[in-house]
Amino acid sequence: MLKLTKVSKVYEGKVAYRALTDINVEIEKGEFVAIMGPSGSGKTTLLNIISTNDAPTTGEVVIDGENPHKLKKNALAKFRRNELGFIFQDFNLLHTLTVEENIVLPLTLDGTPVKEMKEKAQKIADTLGISSIMHKRTYEISGGQAQRVAIARAMIHEPRLLLADEPTGNLDSKAAKDVMNMLVSINETEKTSLLMVTHDPQAASYANRVIFIRDGKLHSEIHRGESRQAFFHKIIDMLSLMGGDGNDFSSIRV
Ligand SMILES: Nc1ncnc2c1ncn2[C@@H]1O[C@H](COP(=O)(O)OP(=O)(O)OP(=O)(O)O)[C@@H](O)[C@H]1O
Ligand SMILES: [Mg+2]
Repeated sequence: MLKLTKVSKVYEGKVAYRALTDINVEIEKGEFVAIMGPSGSGKTTLLNIISTNDAPTTGEVVIDGENPHKLKKNALAKFRRNELGFIFQDFNLLHTLTVEENIVLPLTLDGTPVKEMKEKAQKIADTLGISSIMHKRTYEISGGQAQRVAIARAMIHEPRLLLADEPTGNLDSKAAKDVMNMLVSINETEKTSLLMVTHDPQAASYANRVIFIRDGKLHSEIHRGESRQAFFHKIIDMLSLMGGDGNDFSSIRV
């Protein structure tokens, strides 16, 4: 589904900065993988390269048999719309639009008929428990609701790969739990592959696998067994083994 081969990233500038070194990662269809690592370790850089918002300096990205970085502009735009969904930490909603308009935005770009758009939006809003706020503006809703709207928007075109950067970053623990359960259900019912960056070991414990990166390099990975609780403790142990600057894991909820 997703294969990264020796992906490296050097940010050019007055002083060049090497953010990623030789990252090899493979994700199967329908797998749910979390990426963790201290602040500045290169997690967002990696997600930006996979989402084609940024290009790798060297190395290769293949998604569903295709290297999107080699596509021409129009083909790339289509590829991104068909294959990829994004959930950003700051939600990235458009404040001049209603919740419903935000959700159907990816379909608008594809020229989907209005009736079909509304039906799809309604179905996904029902699933996410946000159908009562469809006509509100995004500044009239709570953070947890905004996060669900962002998920609805990322899901409405049924992407094969969903990329999420800190999807629970701004949420309290109840809302974070709801969001994680939603992501798991999308992952299980639609077989959507899921790649999620998170600082939160509780959120990461919902994944099938956690990949740890440190200083731009793969550090280790652990797989979930039967129990999420046991996985959660394994994740915490790995994080403390890796160290960090102490502030990184402030969101730990035990
Ligand atoms: N556009 C840029 N130009 C130069 N350096 C950058 C740029 N973007 C990120 N960096 C540097 O690359 C490194 C990795 O940044 P990145 O945003 O990927 O970290 P992160 O793991 O997502 O951190 P956080 O957990 O704080 O979000 C950091 O040292 C950062 O300062
Ligand atoms: Mg980041």
